[in-house]
Amino acid sequence: MERVPETDAYRGVADDDALVRLVDELSTEHGLEFITTRRLLCLLAGTRPTDVASLVRGTGASRRRVEEVLARLTDHLDDTADGYRVRPSAVPTLRRLARCDALLPAGFTDPPPDRRWTQLRERMRVAAAGLPPSVWRLDHVPATADTAVRRAYALWANYELAGNHVLCLGDHDLTSIALTLVSPEVAVTVVDIDERILDHIATLADDWRLPVRCAFADLRAELPPSLRDGVDLVFTDPPYTPAGIELFLARGVGALRRRRGGRVLFCYSHNERQPARGLEVQNVVSGLHLAVEGVLPRFNAFDGAESIGSHSALWICQPTANAWPAAERRTGAVAIYTRGRQAEETAARPVASVPARLRGYVPLDEGAAVQLVGTGDGAPLSLDTLLRTEPPAGQGGLVRPGAVLLADLTEVHPSYAYRLLLRGLPVRRAVFAVSAQARKLGLHAADHPVWRLVAAKYRLGFDGADVIDATASPIEEVPEELRTARYVLDHPKARLAGAWREALVAQARRQGRVLVKNQARQLIAASVDPRSIEDRYLCELPERVLGAVARAMLAAVAVPEPVSEPVSDIVPAQPIVKHS
Ligand SMILES: C[S@@+](CC[C@H](N)C(=O)[O-])C[C@H]1O[C@@H](n2cnc3c(N)ncnc32)[C@H](O)[C@@H]1O
Repeated sequence: MERVPETDAYRGVADDDALVRLVDELSTEHGLEFITTRRLLCLLAGTRPTDVASLVRGTGASRRRVEEVLARLTDHLDDTADGYRVRPSAVPTLRRLARCDALLPAGFTDPPPDRRWTQLRERMRVAAAGLPPSVWRLDHVPATADTAVRRAYALWANYELAGNHVLCLGDHDLTSIALTLVSPEVAVTVVDIDERILDHIATLADDWRLPVRCAFADLRAELPPSLRDGVDLVFTDPPYTPAGIELFLARGVGALRRRRGGRVLFCYSHNERQPARGLEVQNVVSGLHLAVEGVLPRFNAFDGAESIGSHSALWICQPTANAWPAAERRTGAVAIYTRGRQAEETAARPVASVPARLRGYVPLDEGAAVQLVGTGDGAPLSLDTLLRTEPPAGQGGLVRPGAVLLADLTEVHPSYAYRLLLRGLPVRRAVFAVSAQARKLGLHAADHPVWRLVAAKYRLGFDGADVIDATASPIEEVPEELRTARYVLDHPKARLAGAWREALVAQARRQGRVLVKNQARQLIAASVDPRSIEDRYLCELPERVLGAVARAMLAAVAVPEPVSEPVSDIVPAQPIVKHS
C-alpha cells in the first residue's frame, strides 16, 4: 500500500478530523450540558493559558468534568506552567466547532434591551393575538409575551439546544414558538389536549418555517407513544394543583431519554397564605425522585392568576435514576384542575353508574369475554394502564383478543373513543361511554372524518350523543377504498409513515402493479405534509392531521385492469387525489 507522506499540511487535516470527532462525541455524551463544555472549549481556545481552577470558575463545570475534557483533548493541548491552551493551529477549528461566537452568559436573567429581543417580543405579541379564547376548565391563564421570550432566552443561554429535542407539555403560552424563533436548530414537540391550540401552533410553525411539531394527548390518559424515552428537556406550565403537577411531571419524565443530563422545567407558585400547598408540591417533586436544581421566583408573569400575584416561579429539576419507575407508578389522575368539574377539590363523583349502563349493551352470553375499562381507582383495567401496555406504547397482552371492551371515557377527552380504535385493538367489539363534549366535537355521528378511517376495521353505531359502539369487521367485508386504512389499522406497532407506505405497495400489488417505497413516499407527500406525520403513530395525531390522512387514504382509488403477465417495469399506482 502506498504510504501517505506525513507533511505538516496532512497532519493538520488529520488533527482537524480528530477534533471534529472528539467534539462530536462530547456533544452526544453531554447532551443539554454540552453548552458548559462549549464554554470550556472556548476558554481553552483563548489567547492565554488557563489553569484548572480558573476553567472551573469560568464555566461552572465541575472539576471532574473539566479534568475529563482536558484528558480527552490532550493531543490538541499545550500544557504550560500557567495552565492549558489549545495549540494555535487548532484554535480556529475549535472555535468554530464550539460556536464560541454564539454563546450567551449563563444564568436566568432577562434578555438584554437590544433590538433583537424587542423584535422577538413584538413577534410573540402577533403570535399570541391569534390564539383561540382561553378555556376556563383547562386552567388556561396566558403568560405574557415577555414571559415566552424570557423562557426562550433562559433555555437558549443555559442548555445546548442544537440537535436536541424539547417537549412542551401543553403550550397555550406559545413557548415553543418563542424558543424556535430564538434557536431554529432545536426540535420542539408540543403536546396539548386543545386541538385549537395545536392548530394555531402548527399554522404559525408552517408560516414562519419553525421546527415545531404537534401531537395530541389528554395527559390524564397517556403520553403520546412516539415521545416515550425520546426528548432531552421538558417544559411545562401545568395546572397548579398537586395532582396536576404530579401528572404533568410524571408524563414529562416518561418522555425524557433514559440518559444523564435531561431536565424538567416547570412553572408553579402557591398563594402566600397557603404554604402547606407549596409544601405538598415539593413533596410531589420529591416523590417523583426529581432533584430540584433551582426555583426562580417571579419568573413567569400572567394576564390573570391574581391569587398568586399574577406571577409564578420557574422550577428546574433533574431526574434521578428512580424518577422513571416513580413516574410509571403515578399516572392516570383525572381531577387535576384548579376549577371546574374536574377540579382537584371537587368531591368524588359516583362513577359506578357508567359501567353498569355499558353492561346493558352486551348480551348475557357474552359475559365471559367482557373487559371493563375506566379512569377511576375501582376500574378493573385503567385506561392509563391499557394505553401504556397495548401497542404502540407496549407489547400488548392485557386486552384479551376477541373480547368485548366496555370503556368509560367520560372523564377524558372523547376522541379517545376513536384514538383507542386507531390502535387497532384486537377486540370483537368495543362500547364507549363519552362525555357530552362528544356532541360539540361532532363525534356522536358517523360523518366525522376520523370515523371514516376507523370504519376500515370496525362497524360503528351511535346511541344518542354519548355511546359509541364498534364491532370488528372481517377483512373480506372491507371494500377496496378502505384497504389502505385497514392495513395501517392492522399494524398498530408501526409508525404511520412506514405502515402507509407498505399499504400502498400492497395495494399496487393487488392491482397487478409494482410500486417501490420511494414512489409510495412521494404519493404520501403529495397528499399530507410529511413533517406532520413524521415519527408519529396514527393514534396521536392532532385531529386536523388525522382528517387530512383520512381524506388522502380514502380518496377514490380506481382499480385499473389487472396485468396478467408478471410486471417488469415500475409503474406508479393510481395517485392519491389531494383534497384541499
Ligand atoms: C394547564 S394550562 C396552564 C396555564 C398556561 N399558562 C396557559 O394559559 O395555558 C397549560 C396547557 O396545558 C394544556 N392542558 C390542560 N389540560 C391538559 C391535559 N389533560 N392534557 C394535555 N394538555 C392539557 C392546556 O391546553 C394548556 O395549553
